[in-house]
Amino acid sequence: MSFQAIIFDAYGTLFDVYAIAAEAERQFPGQGAALANLWRDKQIEYTRLRTLSDTYQPFDSVTRDALQFACSRLGLPLSPESQSQLMDQYNRLTPFPENLNVLNELKRDGLTLAILSNGNPEMLDPVIKAADMDGMFTHVLSAHTVKKFKTAPETYRLGTSTLGLAAEDCLFVSSNGWDICGAAWFGYPTFWVNRAAAPLEVLGVTPNGEGRSLNDLLQFVRQRGGH
Ligand code: LAC
Repeated sequence: MSFQAIIFDAYGTLFDVYAIAAEAERQFPGQGAALANLWRDKQIEYTRLRTLSDTYQPFDSVTRDALQFACSRLGLPLSPESQSQLMDQYNRLTPFPENLNVLNELKRDGLTLAILSNGNPEMLDPVIKAADMDGMFTHVLSAHTVKKFKTAPETYRLGTSTLGLAAEDCLFVSSNGWDICGAAWFGYPTFWVNRAAAPLEVLGVTPNGEGRSLNDLLQFVRQRGGH
C-alpha cells in the first residue's frame, strides 16, 4: 500500500490545543483543565447534534456556544473579554514541534498534502498562517462546504472528490480516535497520531498505523512507499 496523498485533521493533530487549556487556567485559576476538557467534549457533541438534526452552524459559533455551556456547568463567570480571549487562542495555536519538518519531508517525497477539518475557513486560515504553514497544503477542506461535520461521510468525501483520488490512495491522519473511525468507515486507510496514549475506541476499527507523533507517521509512510 503506497499513498498519493495525505489528508490531515487540524486541531490536536497539526495544531497543539495546549494553549487553550493554558489560557483557560489564566482566566479561571484551578479550573483550566476542567474547563478545557468540558469545552472540547461539548464542542464535539454539538457538532454531532447539529449534523444529526441538520441544524448546521459554523465551527467557530459551535465552539463559542460550547464554551458558554461549559462555563455555566462549572459555575464560571464568562465575561465578554474572557470569551474573546479564549476564542482568540484558536487563531494562534502553535504547530507541534516536529510538524513543519515532517510536512516538508512528505512534500519532498512527492505526496500531496491536504487538511480536512471541522473548522470553517475563517478559523483555519489564520491558524495556518500563524503556524507558517502557508502553501504547505494543496487543499484546505472544510466541513463548512457540505454543512455537515465529521463523521458524516459527505465531509470525508470532500477529500476524494477534491483530490480526484480513490480513498485507498489517500492516508487519513488524525489524533482523534473517533475521527480515525469515521475516516476508516468512509474507506480511507488511517494513521492515528495517538499523542495522548489513549485507548482505542471500541467501534470495530483498527487504524492501519499508529504512533505518538508525526515522526512516526513519516516512518510509516516511507516504509509503505518503499522509500
Ligand atoms: C478538526 C477537529 C475535529 O480539525 O480536530 O476537524
